[in-house]
Amino acid sequence: MYEDGYTTIDNIDISDVVIQAMQAKHSDKTGLTWEVMDCTALNHPDGIYDVVFDKGTVDSLLCGEGSTAKVATVFSEISRVLKDDGTLFMVSYGIPDNRLSYLENADYNWTVKVHAIPKPTVTAVRDPPARACATHSPPSHPPPAATTPTPRTAARVAAHRLR
Ligand SMILES: C[S@@+](CC[C@H](N)C(=O)[O-])C[C@H]1O[C@@H](n2cnc3c(N)ncnc32)[C@H](O)[C@@H]1O
Repeated sequence: MYEDGYTTIDNIDISDVVIQAMQAKHSDKTGLTWEVMDCTALNHPDGIYDVVFDKGTVDSLLCGEGSTAKVATVFSEISRVLKDDGTLFMVSYGIPDNRLSYLENADYNWTVKVHAIPKPTVTAVRDPPARACATHSPPSHPPPAATTPTPRTAARVAAHRLR
């Protein structure tokens, strides 16, 4: 956002470790403020923000104790600090149905739009190809009784042989 020209941003997190680390990381950027704050009790005055951006904080609150009441309070706080024509951007791993009940609250009178963002796939660390191990010294003892090995079990067997 900063690089796209949105350079006046107040950043909060409940963790002072996070705030210190992010402040240090972005110390070259003017216009940013950093404050330890609980998003269920914002210190900001009413109606001052054009945009509020949540990425993962509501998700994390929903994993904790008293989640439903806490998250309802967060949205009430967001609604309070947003200008009347302001926008909340919420980036969430949750499925929309599990978030919309909070957002589509008549008290806020928000128009809610959902955009799906493709989730990046995370590739688990791959075992080396079994073939690459096959050139090493012959086994000093036989591998465990083998069924037809899949590449993964074959790699494990090869590692066993090398010990
Ligand atoms: C999943 S992380 C997301 C961090 C960041 N938005 C990102 O996308 O990398 C959730 C963050 O919410 C913060 N957090 C949890 N409860 C909070 C609260 N009540 N008020 C403010 N921040 C909170 C955590 O400290 C953590 O940094």
